[in-house]
Amino acid sequence: MRIILLGAPGAGKGTQCKRIVDKYSLVHLSSGDILRQERAAGTELGKKAQSYMDSGGLVPDTLIVEMMAGAIKKVAAKGFVLDGFPRTINQAQELDKALNANGQKIDAVINLVIDDSIILNRMTGRRSCPKCGAVYHIENLKPKIDGVCDKEGTKLAQRPDDTLDVVKTRLKTYHDQTKPVVGYYKSQNSVHDIKADMDVDTVTSLVLKTLESIIK
Ligand code: AP5
Repeated sequence: MRIILLGAPGAGKGTQCKRIVDKYSLVHLSSGDILRQERAAGTELGKKAQSYMDSGGLVPDTLIVEMMAGAIKKVAAKGFVLDGFPRTINQAQELDKALNANGQKIDAVINLVIDDSIILNRMTGRRSCPKCGAVYHIENLKPKIDGVCDKEGTKLAQRPDDTLDVVKTRLKTYHDQTKPVVGYYKSQNSVHDIKADMDVDTVTSLVLKTLESIIK
């Protein structure tokens, strides 16, 4: 199964993706996570991406398309959920081309719909594990021990782009450049809108119910 999860920054894409991949044994491909790994490893790609990510803008399509095409190729046989990609119409078209060339297509596009006012609280309260990537929230999804990852026992960290100013820029970037991607897939009749302003488990059950209806 090949799935795309769309939604604004903080809509809950990463949180829901982890649950989808567990349920269906798929691979989670997050363009943001891959970029952060490249940065941590000090690669050329990571260095080039740094200033765009820290300011809340998009990393250029040329870098992203090559990076994601390579990642998709490696896991194509297993099936995947894309999180954070595609983020421009051009990226969506390039993804279509790459899949078509291998006789593949996207099976489902899930769009997490949420108001900007809720997003600001989610992003500034997010904490994640630097070791396993598990995502928590200081109010909505607390770890068992404050500030410590349940799985790894590691101290949780705040992402540098989760400050109020950068989040506002990321939201503007989303509305200007990424929201049109929803329209791109709507024109192909493949988008399932899901209200994402409810608690995590309720959103998960709506997402899984939608996927079950597609698989049948
Ligand atoms: P990326 O890492 O993709 O960030 P994003 O899209 O802004 O999304 P987030 O990871 O911030 O949010 P999310 O929707 O996954 O929410 P989460 O589940 O964590 O990208 C970072 C940067 O990399 C970009 O700004 C850009 O520069 C670059 N980049 C990446 N991909 C690119 C591309 N394709 N092209 C160009 N540049 C690219 O949840 C957020 C918080 O809310 C958590 O604390 C969580 O616990 C909580 N939460 C989640 N769901 C709920 C709920 N239902 N109720 C209450 N709380 C909830």
